[in-house]
Amino acid sequence: MARHPQTRWKRLPLWVAMGLAMPLLFLSGGCELRKKMYDQPRYKTYAESEFFEDGSSARPLVEGTVPRGFLREDDHFYRGTVNGEFARELPDQIDVTEELLLRGKERYQIFCSVCHDPAGYGNGMVVQRGFKEPESFHTDRLRQAANGYYYEVISNGFGMMAGYAYQVKPEDRWAIIAYIRTLQLSQYATWDHVPESVRADVEAGRL
Ligand code: HEC
Repeated sequence: MARHPQTRWKRLPLWVAMGLAMPLLFLSGGCELRKKMYDQPRYKTYAESEFFEDGSSARPLVEGTVPRGFLREDDHFYRGTVNGEFARELPDQIDVTEELLLRGKERYQIFCSVCHDPAGYGNGMVVQRGFKEPESFHTDRLRQAANGYYYEVISNGFGMMAGYAYQVKPEDRWAIIAYIRTLQLSQYATWDHVPESVRADVEAGRL
């Protein structure tokens, strides 16, 4: 007698059922676990607490906690100082490359030139509209000021000028300082500073 299709279907569960049941068992096990975690004593966000003295279940960070990547132990790089004095040199991590100077130029033009003007004389558009005029970067005093002093002014501000710590990250502050040094050199450059390769162009007025 030919097997009725239904009979075949009825027999399948004998071995298929095992395969189906195993994952189900695991799933329900997982549920049990999750339920145990769900049932353990815990606070809801911002709930009141009787355990802690200040009555709040939200605990403040332990004093001195430093987020990963924010240790910032390097005084030279992060504060512009060496042994408590403004550093004259750039930090070791900063290589003065063309790329760094171009980055410094871009950041300077965005954040500083509005007041200090593109060449650093202190006659930017904001100053022309009435803001206090800063001292030119080309005075002897500011030409001789330490790199670390510039870092301090950019980070924390100076007199009427606000600090730029939130807008300009440490690497970029050093790039800006390197660029200000090139502006300063540009106003006091001598023939000796002009590279041989472009002297002919300068003499002919092409540069
Ligand atoms: C909104 C205008 C403004 C901007 C933008 C600005 N500065 Fe200044 N800056 C000033 C003024 C004004 C002073 C002088 C403040 C005073 O004497 O009260 C000053 C002073 C300085 C000084 C000299 C401090 C001294 O000893 O005389 C430096 C260096 C300096 N700024 C660098 C920068 C750099 C770098 C940037 C860009 C990251 C910048 N500033 C952006 C207005 C500005």
